[in-house]
Amino acid sequence: MCGIIGAVAQRNIAEILLEGLRRLEYRGYDSAGLAIVDYPGCVTRLRRVGKVEMLVKAAKQQPLISGTGIAHVRWATHGEPSEANAHPHVSEQIIVVHNGIVENHELLREVLIARGYFFSSETDTEVIAHLVHWEQKKGGNLRDVVLRVIPQLRGVYGIVLMDSRNPLLLMAACFGSPLVIGRGVGENFIASDQLALLPVTRRFIYLEEGDIAEISYSDVSIFDREGKLVNRAEIESSVQYDASDKGIYHHYMEKEIYEQPMAIKNTLTGRLNHCEVDLSELGPNADAILSQIEHTQIIACGTSYHSGMVARYWFESLASIPCDLEIASEFRYRKSAVRKNSLIITLSQSGETADTLAALRLSKKMGYLGSLAICNVAGSSLVRESDMVLMTKAGTEIGVASTKAFTTQLTVLLMLVSKLARLHDRLVEEQDILHALQVLPNRIKQILGQDKCIELLAQDFLDKRHVLFLGRGDQYPIAMEGALKLKEISYIHAEAYAAGEMKHGPLALVDDNMPVVVVAPKNELLEKLKLNIEEVRARGGLLYVFADQNAGFNNSKDMKIISLPPVETVIAPICYIVPLQLLAYYVAFIKGTDIDQPRNLAKSVTVE
Ligand code: M6R
Repeated sequence: MCGIIGAVAQRNIAEILLEGLRRLEYRGYDSAGLAIVDYPGCVTRLRRVGKVEMLVKAAKQQPLISGTGIAHVRWATHGEPSEANAHPHVSEQIIVVHNGIVENHELLREVLIARGYFFSSETDTEVIAHLVHWEQKKGGNLRDVVLRVIPQLRGVYGIVLMDSRNPLLLMAACFGSPLVIGRGVGENFIASDQLALLPVTRRFIYLEEGDIAEISYSDVSIFDREGKLVNRAEIESSVQYDASDKGIYHHYMEKEIYEQPMAIKNTLTGRLNHCEVDLSELGPNADAILSQIEHTQIIACGTSYHSGMVARYWFESLASIPCDLEIASEFRYRKSAVRKNSLIITLSQSGETADTLAALRLSKKMGYLGSLAICNVAGSSLVRESDMVLMTKAGTEIGVASTKAFTTQLTVLLMLVSKLARLHDRLVEEQDILHALQVLPNRIKQILGQDKCIELLAQDFLDKRHVLFLGRGDQYPIAMEGALKLKEISYIHAEAYAAGEMKHGPLALVDDNMPVVVVAPKNELLEKLKLNIEEVRARGGLLYVFADQNAGFNNSKDMKIISLPPVETVIAPICYIVPLQLLAYYVAFIKGTDIDQPRNLAKSVTVE
């Protein structure tokens, strides 16, 4: 989704802005732009539709030399992807980039047109530029002006703006869309994502809701929405990210699939001891809260929602704790009843998903016992706003299609379930879970060893327009996640069903042109699943069964078996998603789609 970078320095910042945009590319976008102040009152603005590389090419055509500038990648919300709609937007000397949505932009636009302003784009952002310009006429410094503009905006924003007549200053305002300041020596920066700033600094200050920041090359001052000076902590980031380092891999997604054994190992490190899971990082009061829990409510979107679906099986079957699960965008707009002693658990790779954040904020007014976030990005809004946090240690995930974030989320969730089972004296399976977690990285490694055969299989899907995915029990969410992966990157329509549900309607779709992918580990539902497979087979479906090598399946004309090494039942969902990730990857690879940045999608969905 949209991304911002800004810099004010005593050296040329053009390349810093362009590199920052390259590092924001993974978020998904459709146009890019920058503006730098050449000298007081004079600005160069460049905007291009398409990849950042188009902007880089344009930048090479003219000298860009300046110590102050802002840049943006845009994911279209208001108005098509076009040069006119790309950021920065200007109103004479005022230049603005913006993430989020100004909900009352239509009304503001009418008011501003009546005041004589001309709009050159269809965006909501342009109203901010004109509004600042209008308010500036009433006097005061740029901070006073921003403090007057902010109450007029409804919606969500991360805004960075400059006045070309005063090029030694950037102003930023943050409400609902994250902004982080990067501190340098004799230079300062701002961005919507710390990844954009890692080449220039590791010292960061996250802005909080309602903060307004004044940034010069020598100083950073932060004010609350009343204009009162506030103190925000500076942190040192340890995030590792090298944009050019795909290593031997063609895509980040491929790299991230193969990183899963290590990502899971990192996620487990320090959290397993010989006889129990150690989550003391939750803080000294956590046990007191967790032992009171009688219910858990999971909230998430997309892939994170699928990991919540798996966790629901675990919470109820392993810890006997009732668990409900809801898509964040539904939860936030529904009047739901809160169960007694319920813990709200949010799951998110980015920690910035607008719907999940809004659901968390809403839950605070609803009487939950507390909130726990499972997240991959330290310092993200979800992490900062939750009572308790468990980090996944997947490392930066760049591919839009989530892979290692999913399997590390599941790893953390299984540890959490084990911890809760102990606190609630339901210890029957604890040692099995601990053993399974210990061997998990190795099991994933063994499954990755099947990659060549999955690559060959991918050929079968190239000319298909639809694919069905089937699973039962805790493999049903895995079927859903496998279908999502295929849809996202290969653009083939894919649907998942609980295998037992086929006879209630979806069987009508099955014919000899319909591939049906089945996940079939060796578990107590295997025999039931085999019946469902026969139902599909009897109707001419083309079956692709990812099965335990001891599950008793045989290859035949209408059924291809992808034999997988045996895995412990409890971790089978974490293991069985891996071949489905590979399948989606190879299909997309052969089709030649833009795997890391699939069309229309964004990595971090910061608008609703
Ligand atoms: O960052 P989050 O986990 O909150 O993101 C949620 C979804 O947007 C995300 O999982 C999305 O579905 C992925 N593209 C799936 O691969």
